[in-house]
Amino acid sequence: MPARKIIIDTDPGQDDAVAILLALASPEEIDLLGITTVAGNVPLALTSRNARMVCELAGRPDVAVYAGCDRPLRHRLVTAEHVHGKTGLDGPDLPEPQMPLADGHAVDFIIDTLRRQPAGTVTLCPLGPLTNIATAFEKAPDVAARVQEIVLMGGAYFEVGNITPAAEFNIYVDPEAADIVMKSGCDITIVPLDVTHKALVTQSRNDAFRALGSPVGIAVAQMTDFFERFDKEKYGSAGAPLHDPCVTAFVLRPDLFSGRHINVEIETGSPLTRGMTVADWWGVTDRSPNATFLGDVEADGLFALLTERLARL
Ligand code: RIB
Ligand code: CA
Repeated sequence: MPARKIIIDTDPGQDDAVAILLALASPEEIDLLGITTVAGNVPLALTSRNARMVCELAGRPDVAVYAGCDRPLRHRLVTAEHVHGKTGLDGPDLPEPQMPLADGHAVDFIIDTLRRQPAGTVTLCPLGPLTNIATAFEKAPDVAARVQEIVLMGGAYFEVGNITPAAEFNIYVDPEAADIVMKSGCDITIVPLDVTHKALVTQSRNDAFRALGSPVGIAVAQMTDFFERFDKEKYGSAGAPLHDPCVTAFVLRPDLFSGRHINVEIETGSPLTRGMTVADWWGVTDRSPNATFLGDVEADGLFALLTERLARL
């Protein structure tokens, strides 16, 4: 089975960092064509810095990292330093990146890659606001049909919102972009808070990262130690929800997840519910299904996979 070609679109973010590390630790199954950064958890300059720091942590300064959009399509940028710290990658003490950004804009890299690779062979893995993806689809309407699948972290139904009572952060930041993606006709799998809030970094799971003893294992333990304080205080949960690595894990082991093929639409008109993913989980409308909306994950299997793979780096 050839490795699956993917582009990770990301706003690191400690959880994005772990998702990138999991992909880099799985070269037999994942051919990471490139990383595209977007403004989200922190401004673009920092997400672009952080993505390169993670590649260098993994010993992969060869990975092409392209900077993308620095603001949402229509709204001012909302960031999440309150969760991720002022750098977006607080926790470990990692060196500033030495590798340069790749030349060119992330949106053009996405367009060129989709046109250059055989149709239906490239999977997009957005881990942040969908601004780059939507901009690529708007700039080059031909490329959406060439996407194999979009596996994105975003949205919520039963878990409702984490940045507002109604909306999950990635969708909230750029709801117009999310609306464009949901209407693109692509094969879409959504990894919502309903799943990621079941992927908690408990103390024993964090201890397992640290017990790897490697720079990667220790850094991941430090990242999740930092990242978890917000969610534990807010939800009283047993640990931080490890949102974005669920996307990479789905690419590697979809059998760990379950969900339904349903209609999902994005609220873009109401300030009160901006960015809400209106998921027809119970099939109460006649709206056509447009996404596989995941609802559950086998968490022990997820963390076993993650820890085993991180040990390789
Ligand atoms: O709501 C969680 C999502 O928002 C994650 O992708 C996190 O990294 C932030 O981007
Ligand atoms: Ca993210």
